[in-house]
Amino acid sequence: MIHVLYLISISELPQKNLLKTFDCGIEEVNIYLSRYAEKNDKLGIGKTFIALTQTKEIAGYFTIATAQVKFEDLPENAKNHLPKYPIPALRVARLAVNKSFQKKGIGKYLLTQAFIKTVHVADITGLYFIIVDAKESSASFYEQFGFQSFTDKALTYFLPVETIRKAMR
Ligand SMILES: CC(C)(COP(=O)(O)OP(=O)(O)OC[C@H]1O[C@@H](n2cnc3c(N)ncnc32)[C@H](O)[C@@H]1OP(=O)(O)O)[C@@H](O)C(=O)NCCC(=O)NCCS
Repeated sequence: MIHVLYLISISELPQKNLLKTFDCGIEEVNIYLSRYAEKNDKLGIGKTFIALTQTKEIAGYFTIATAQVKFEDLPENAKNHLPKYPIPALRVARLAVNKSFQKKGIGKYLLTQAFIKTVHVADITGLYFIIVDAKESSASFYEQFGFQSFTDKALTYFLPVETIRKAMR
C-alpha cells in the first residue's frame, strides 16, 4: 500500500496526544517524541518534523539542530582542504519510523526531507556537513546513503552537503 504523507512541523500537529502513540521499537526515541520534542521545538533547540498519514497517524519523525564537527574527529580522507577549526554542520538528532510503517520507504522519505532542509540552510549560511546519530540497528541504513563514521564515534555519521547537492542535481 502506498502511503500519502504530509510533512508538518510538530507545532502544527492538531492532536498532541498522537505523540504518545508513536512506537519505533526504541524506547528512548519514542520518549523523545512524546516528552521533549515539542518543548525543544518551542525553545528553538531542536526542530521536529512529523510525517502524518492521510488517516492522521504518525508514520515517522525527525529532529534537526545545528552542530559543529571537530577537525580532529574527521578521518584523513575527509580532512582535505578543510581548516583546522570547528566545521559547521546540521545534526539529524533523531529519525524514526513507526513500527507498522517500517520497510516501506518512509525512512528514506524522511532522510530526503532532512537533506532538502539541509540544502536550504546551506544556501544562506555556512554549513559543510550533515551528521546523524545512528543506532546499532540503523547504522547500515545510513551507510547506503554514503554516510561515513567519525574516527572515534562509530555511530555518528557524516556526509558533506556538497555530496547531497550533487545527488540532487
Ligand atoms: C532505521 C529506520 C529509520 C529505517 O526506516 P524504514 O522506513 O524502515 O526504511 P526504508 O523502508 O525507507 O528503507 C530504505 C532502505 O533502507 C534499507 N533499510 C531499512 N532499514 C534498515 C536497517 N535498519 N538497516 C539497514 N538497511 C535498512 C531498506 O532495505 C531500504 O533499502 P532499498 O531502498 O534498497 O530497498 C527505521 O527502521 C527505524 O525507525 N528504526 C528504529 C529507530 C532508529 O533506529 N532510528 C535511528 C536512530 S534515532
